[in-house]
Amino acid sequence: MFDQLTKLKEKAVREIKNSKVLKELHNLEVKYLGRKGELTKLLRQVKDLAAEEKPKFGQLGNEIKEELNQLISEIKFELNKKEKAGSSKEKWLDVTLPGRKFIKGHLHPNSLIQYQLEDVFSRMGFIILEGPELESEYYNFEALNIPPTHPARDMQDTFFIKDKTGWVMRTHTSNMQVRTIEKYQAPLRAVFPGRCFRYEATDVSHDTTFYQLEGLMIDKDISIDNLIAVMKVLLKEVLKREVKIRLRPGYFPFVEPGFELDVNCLICGGKGCPVCKHSGWVEMVPCGLVHPNVLKYGGLDPKEWSGFAFGLGLTRLVMMKYGIDDIRLLQSGDLRFLQQF
Ligand code: PHE
Repeated sequence: MFDQLTKLKEKAVREIKNSKVLKELHNLEVKYLGRKGELTKLLRQVKDLAAEEKPKFGQLGNEIKEELNQLISEIKFELNKKEKAGSSKEKWLDVTLPGRKFIKGHLHPNSLIQYQLEDVFSRMGFIILEGPELESEYYNFEALNIPPTHPARDMQDTFFIKDKTGWVMRTHTSNMQVRTIEKYQAPLRAVFPGRCFRYEATDVSHDTTFYQLEGLMIDKDISIDNLIAVMKVLLKEVLKREVKIRLRPGYFPFVEPGFELDVNCLICGGKGCPVCKHSGWVEMVPCGLVHPNVLKYGGLDPKEWSGFAFGLGLTRLVMMKYGIDDIRLLQSGDLRFLQQF
């Protein structure tokens, strides 16, 4: 009978260790240790043994019982852990739940127009360049024929850099004119979009930060005709309609002759509103033929080369195109405004 007991133990241990799920383990527990279990039944036969054998048999039986109980609780712990992990994973995988909405950003209206302009100019053979926003006074003024004491410096209210004399936040993208001529020489066609800064008292049409898109074309025998032709293509492509334009003389030290190209105000249709300062016209593209001194600063001979330059008010164009009546909205970061584009 002792032999039977150890054999039963070995069988039970093997089966318990092999059990894969809690249910199976529970069945084994009943099978061996339950009230009608195999071990229980065997232990009851103690009464058939000789008196001196009874205690030994009882002791061995109890040890086996304890051992099996211990083994069962260990395996129960492991299986429990496994099954819990499995079931919680299933809960996360509820494929019937609606997905979370993914909020996508989109391009700012400035960028939309900028990319559109870049596309138009690329097709006309212009390269696209970027320039520094922190600029030396040399490229922002001097190389553009505006010497330090010249009153023309007052035309642009400039942010000077504290403790860094000779440096400014660029007041226009014209800072790229001489940089580009120096680098590429002639012939050359380039546009430079970018952010500019001025110390402005802000109102509906002035902000301290705004965007321009500058253009420069240098070749032999460039005239105002070339300039007007390019401007017309540009405005038609971007505004997608014929617009009335007018050319007035305008003074900029780095062009000669210089012009202001105005567009009939698209906000009020020319009737007059705060954006066009009640004139019906909006200054959109200051432009002109490159001044001989600028060509010289870039290292070109003005007798051989000529060119035109323009400084399109990118921010203004965005306002015209979309009918935005306050420039400050563009830099506000206000989602109620931005989400309309
Ligand atoms: N840089 C000038 C401005 O910001 C505009 C301009 C550019 C004028 C190119 C003529 C030629 O006022």
